[in-house]
Amino acid sequence: MAELADASIDLVVTSPPYNLRIEYGKYSDRQDRQSYLKWCQKWAAQVRRVLKSSGSFFLNIGSAPSSPMLPHEMVLELRDTFVLQNVIHWIKSITIEDREGDVRSYGHFKPISSKRFLNDCHEYIFHFTKTGRVEIDRLALGVPYQDKSNISRWRHTRGSDLRCRGNTWFIPYETIQSRVKERPHPATFPVQLAEWCVKLHGVSRVQTMLDPFLGIGNSAIAAQRCGVKKFIGFEIDETYLAEAKRRIG
Ligand SMILES: C[S@@+](CC[C@H](N)C(=O)[O-])C[C@H]1O[C@@H](n2cnc3c(N)ncnc32)[C@H](O)[C@@H]1O
Repeated sequence: MAELADASIDLVVTSPPYNLRIEYGKYSDRQDRQSYLKWCQKWAAQVRRVLKSSGSFFLNIGSAPSSPMLPHEMVLELRDTFVLQNVIHWIKSITIEDREGDVRSYGHFKPISSKRFLNDCHEYIFHFTKTGRVEIDRLALGVPYQDKSNISRWRHTRGSDLRCRGNTWFIPYETIQSRVKERPHPATFPVQLAEWCVKLHGVSRVQTMLDPFLGIGNSAIAAQRCGVKKFIGFEIDETYLAEAKRRIG
C-alpha cells in the first residue's frame, strides 16, 4: 500500500485477519492483542492516506466467545484515524417467528457447544470515512415498505415503495458441497457483502476500489459484478492469490 498515491482510492472493502488463531496457509494469526492492534493501526493509517476525502472504508470484523471485545477494541484503536459513520451488523443466520407462530430459520453458522455462550451468528461491518459526512446511496439497497400506507403518509418517500434497509444485513453464505474446491480459505465473506458495500457507497462514485487483505478475491468479484473500472488487491499467500485470479478470470 505504501506504493499507492495519496487520495487515489474511492472505496476500501476489507476483512483483515482477526487474530483469533485461524489456520491460514501463510499468515500466522496469533499475536498478542496489543501488537495486533498496533499492526492494525499501521495499515489503517495507509488506508487513510490512500483514501479520497469522499471515500468510504468498510471494515468487516467478527469476534469469538473468548474475545467478545475484539471488534470494539478495533474501533477504539482507529478512532483518531477515521470517523465511524455507520455500524452494520452482518447477520449470517436468523430465526423468525411469524404472526401465525410459524418458526423459520435462514442462513448458516458454525454451531458451538457451550454452557455459557450463544452460537455466533453475526459479524460487524464498520463504515469509516474521513469526515463522517460522506453521502451514501441508501436506496441502492432499498426494500419495499411492509405497510404500504407509509408511502403516501410520509412525504420523504416521494411516492416510491422503497425504504432504507437499515443496518442489519442478512447475507447467508452460499451452500457448498466441497470446501476445498469451492471455498479454499478459512475466513471469507460472501461476494454479496462486498457488493452491498459498493452499492451503498454508490456504484457511479467508485472508479478505484482497494482490498488490502484479498483472500480468495470475493471483493474483486464484487467489483467486477458492479462494473468498477479499477480494482487493487493485496494478499501475502500465493495460493489464495492464485485462486482469486482464477475466480475473476
Ligand atoms: C480474513 S482473510 C480475507 C478473506 C477475504 N475477504 C475473502 O473473502 O476471501 C485475511 C487475509 O489477509 C491475508 N494477509 C495477512 N497479512 C497480510 C498482509 N500483510 N498483506 C496482505 N495480505 C495479508 C491472509 O493471508 C488472509 O488471506
